[in-house]
Amino acid sequence: MASRAPNESSAEDKIIHEYDGIGECDHQLPNWWVWTFIATVAFAIGYFFYYSQLRSGELPLEAYKREVAEHAAARAEQIRAHGVMDRDALEGLSKDPKSVAKGGELFQQTCSPCHAANGGGGIGPNLTDRYWIHGGAPNDIYQTITDGVPAKGMAAWGGQLGAEAIQNVTAFVLTLRNTNVPDGKPPQGELSNETEYK
Ligand code: HEC
Repeated sequence: MASRAPNESSAEDKIIHEYDGIGECDHQLPNWWVWTFIATVAFAIGYFFYYSQLRSGELPLEAYKREVAEHAAARAEQIRAHGVMDRDALEGLSKDPKSVAKGGELFQQTCSPCHAANGGGGIGPNLTDRYWIHGGAPNDIYQTITDGVPAKGMAAWGGQLGAEAIQNVTAFVLTLRNTNVPDGKPPQGELSNETEYK
């Protein structure tokens, strides 16, 4: 930068405004400043359209949700490959939106006539409370759905639907627990102290 002798003055050094003994000149803004300013404005316009107007950009929350779902899906695949449907495996499937969605569809088609579309119960018990006749642990629920309770009108679904469908519908039923839909059937069975309740 060219330095100037202390006493040398130019037209730019003319004081145009003074207050409290402080003089204000009208220097030209440095180029780096002007270009930084223009760049921030251009960035802001781009940012605005990318995220809020065109909706083409994925917001951080959406990106986070997608990553969580991807992770859950990968874990669900692992669980199925492993083949052992214990409590953790089933809880894992119940966190995978895809498995839950498939299970939900099946539930609407096959189970809702007796358990209601929202799981609140009818001919069959309410699946949205914390009371279970045959146990509220994930593996208990899986077992009940697989083997049924033929004497009471609940079919053994395992043979009819196949393992993967039972896994999905169990995952869905696990998401119903303790959601306590308003028009649900009164509780039946024992209070279950599953720690995994939401
Ligand atoms: C024809 C009616 C009917 C259909 C269809 C039906 N259920 Fe049931 N379900 C029952 C009855 C009745 C019981 C209660 C059995 C008892 O009293 O021991 C029951 C019990 C259950 C239980 C155990 C509840 C508890 O309190 O322990 C679960 C879980 C369950 N059903 C899930 C399902 C799923 C999932 C489906 C669909 C694949 C399904 N049910 C389809 C009638 C039905």
